[in-house]
Amino acid sequence: MSNQRLRSGHEVVPMSEEWLTRLEKDQKMYKQGMIRLMPDGWLYPTAFINFADRIYNFEFRSSDVVLMTMPKSGTTWMQEILWTMLHNPDLDHPQADEPIYHRAPEISLDMMFDSKGMEGAKIDNFARAFIETCPGRKPEDGMSLQMCELTADPRVIKTHLPLSVLAPDLLDKAKVVYVARNPKDVVVSYYYYYCMMKAFTYTGSFTNFVKYFMNDEVVFGPYWPHLRLAWEKKDHPNMFFVFYEDMKEDIMAVLHKLNKFLGTNLTQQQLDNVSRHTSFSAMKSRGEPLIDGDVFNADVREKVGGYFRKGIIGDWKNHFTPELEQEMNQWVESHVPDIGITFK
Ligand code: PPS
Repeated sequence: MSNQRLRSGHEVVPMSEEWLTRLEKDQKMYKQGMIRLMPDGWLYPTAFINFADRIYNFEFRSSDVVLMTMPKSGTTWMQEILWTMLHNPDLDHPQADEPIYHRAPEISLDMMFDSKGMEGAKIDNFARAFIETCPGRKPEDGMSLQMCELTADPRVIKTHLPLSVLAPDLLDKAKVVYVARNPKDVVVSYYYYYCMMKAFTYTGSFTNFVKYFMNDEVVFGPYWPHLRLAWEKKDHPNMFFVFYEDMKEDIMAVLHKLNKFLGTNLTQQQLDNVSRHTSFSAMKSRGEPLIDGDVFNADVREKVGGYFRKGIIGDWKNHFTPELEQEMNQWVESHVPDIGITFK
C-alpha cells in the first residue's frame, strides 16, 4: 500500500516501531506515533495528518503576520512584540493579560494534543480560550487552527512549520517574520524544554539530545532545511528575517525595522513601551505562556528555571564538552556554506 500524500505534495512516512523504541529509551513518545514528511524530512506527531491540508489551504489575509521559527529561537518574545506593536502599543488593551496563545495562536498546535489534552496533561485554560475565541465551534475540528481563523485582525499567527508545508503563495498574501537563533543555543533551550514538557519527558543525557538534534530526530526538525527555506526568501518584501542575537544586541533597532515592515507607524514613545513590555524580565514576571501549568513536569521546571529560562546568548558554553562542541562545529560548518547564512 502506498503512503498518503498531502496537499503540500509531501509523502507521509510513518516512523518505524524500531525507531520509536530506540527513542523511547530517552523520552516519552506520542501515543499516536510519529511521521516524517518526505522528501524534506519534517518530523511530526502522526496527528498532523488530520490538520495538514486545512493548514495548507488556510486563508491568509494581507493584514496577517505569520511568525515562523524553529522551536526555542525566540518565538514567544517575537510573538509578544508583534501582538503588542499591532494591538497594544499604548499598553492599554483590555486583553493584554490573556496568555499569548490566546491572542496570537499557533496554527499547528492541535497535532500535539490527543483526545483528552496534551498527551494526558489537562488543557482547561487552553480549552477556555478556544471557547471564548470560537463560540459554537467543535474542539475536534482543531482548537488552535480555529483560533487562528477567528482571532481578531490584524492576526498574529505563530508556527513552527516551515514554508514548504504552507501554501506556496503565503508570502504574496501575508507578511512573514522569521526568527533564527544560533543552533547551539537552540539545542540547549530545546533540551530543557524536552525535559520539562510532560509530552516529551526527556530523561536522556544532554549529549544524546544534541545527537538527536543533529540527526534530525527532534520534533519540527530538521533544523537546516527549515532555516534555508526562509533564508532563501529573506529579500522578499513580505519577509522579515531576523536573528535572536540581533534582537538581544539592539532590540530598538529591530523594533524600528519592524515598525516599517509592519507599517505600524508607532512613535518612539510607543516603541519604548513595546521594548519595556517585552523585555525578558517583564515577560518572565508576567508568567509562563504555556497552555496550562499541568503540561510541565513541575520538579524539572523548578530546577531548570521554567519557560523563561535564561534568555541569553551563549549559554551553550556552559553545556558543551570540548568533544561535543567540536562535533557540533563540524555539523554547523557542513551546512552553513551551502546555505550562505552567518551566525554571530
Ligand atoms: S517555543 O516554545 O519554541 O515557542 O520557545 P521560544 O519562545 O522560541 O524560545 C524560548 C527561548 O526564548 C527565550 N526568551 C527570551 N529571550 C529574551 N527576551 C525575551 N523577552 C524572551 N522570551 C523568551 C527563553 O528564555 C528561551 O530561551 P532559553 O535559552 O531557554 O532561556
